[in-house]
Amino acid sequence: MTTVVLISRDYDMSHLAPAIRRAAPELRVLMYGDKGTADAEVAVCWNPPAGALADLPRLRLIHSMAAGVDNIISDPTLPDAPVCRVVDPGHAQGMSEFVTWGALHYLRQLDVVMANQPAETWYRPEQRKASDCRVGIMGLGEIGSRVAQDLRRIGFSVRGWARSARDLPGVEIFSGEGEFGAFLRDTEILVCLLPLTELTRGILNRQTLAMLPHGAKLIHVGRGEHLVAEDVMAALRTGQLSGAILDVFPQEPLPQGDALWRAPNVIITPHMASVASAETIGSQVAANVRQLLSDEPLYNVVDVSRGY
Ligand SMILES: NC(=O)c1ccc[n+]([C@@H]2O[C@H](COP(=O)([O-])OP(=O)(O)OC[C@H]3O[C@@H](n4cnc5c(N)ncnc54)[C@H](OP(=O)(O)O)[C@@H]3O)[C@@H](O)[C@H]2O)c1
Repeated sequence: MTTVVLISRDYDMSHLAPAIRRAAPELRVLMYGDKGTADAEVAVCWNPPAGALADLPRLRLIHSMAAGVDNIISDPTLPDAPVCRVVDPGHAQGMSEFVTWGALHYLRQLDVVMANQPAETWYRPEQRKASDCRVGIMGLGEIGSRVAQDLRRIGFSVRGWARSARDLPGVEIFSGEGEFGAFLRDTEILVCLLPLTELTRGILNRQTLAMLPHGAKLIHVGRGEHLVAEDVMAALRTGQLSGAILDVFPQEPLPQGDALWRAPNVIITPHMASVASAETIGSQVAANVRQLLSDEPLYNVVDVSRGY
């Protein structure tokens, strides 16, 4: 019987065990530390303790329970086994809903209207056309490309930035570091949907924000470590950013008392933009274990050297 172990140092993954068992009753599913952990051939992870994977002598497959893998592959003792992630159209749909809400919130100036309410101020902002509002999406992967196309369908003027060029109907494409400045220069609402890698860590910094038009907005739904919190707060104070929706943070939960909670014109959301359901995670892990056991190609394999 193949053993699957669920491993995290800070997240309760126990709800995933029944979902994996439902999808693949033939598997033995354990929590890390249970008797039999050392037999595990498959590890399903979120933030595993450093060295935990290297301690599994029979490990053949490492599976993220999410789209991101940075918290797994950053372990210097990562064993030489394939790393897979969850890629779920429902994930992209959820993210698209969240980013669309944020973009419409700013387009229709709900931020201004809500700020006026405590003073009982009746002010009707001018209605802008979506086509006059330029949204820029950093990262055009499984999720970013879906978000870009949905925003385009609503009528926004959409541009996207990725490592490599591609064709995405109706979306203006910028690629590589060389085109980063041109991408930012006319972006009014910046959406971060990059993976966390050594090249993207801290990318939401003073230099990047300074390249946006004065008064731009930020919707950050990538990874917490993209954010240089001091720089984002400084940009909010000076008005370089006139609003930000922040969903992910270097430390989660965002600690009580953290200055970001009270930064001007910021909306803090608790890493809720899009969460894959336990059923989806369970069925994707089960499908990949079956591929592994029948020596068939795995789904959604990550390029560990590239970092995503
Ligand atoms: N907040 C939430 O609830 C939530 C939920 C789900 C996912 N996420 C996050 O959303 C992000 C995107 O996920 P995904 O599945 O769409 O990722 P993905 O499929 O791996 O796509 C990554 C995209 O980023 C681009 N990219 C990577 N490194 C780059 C660099 N150095 N410069 C420019 N572009 C770069 C890639 O370019 P190429 O296409 O040229 O390779 C690709 O378009 C991840 O950070 C994930 O953790 C957050």
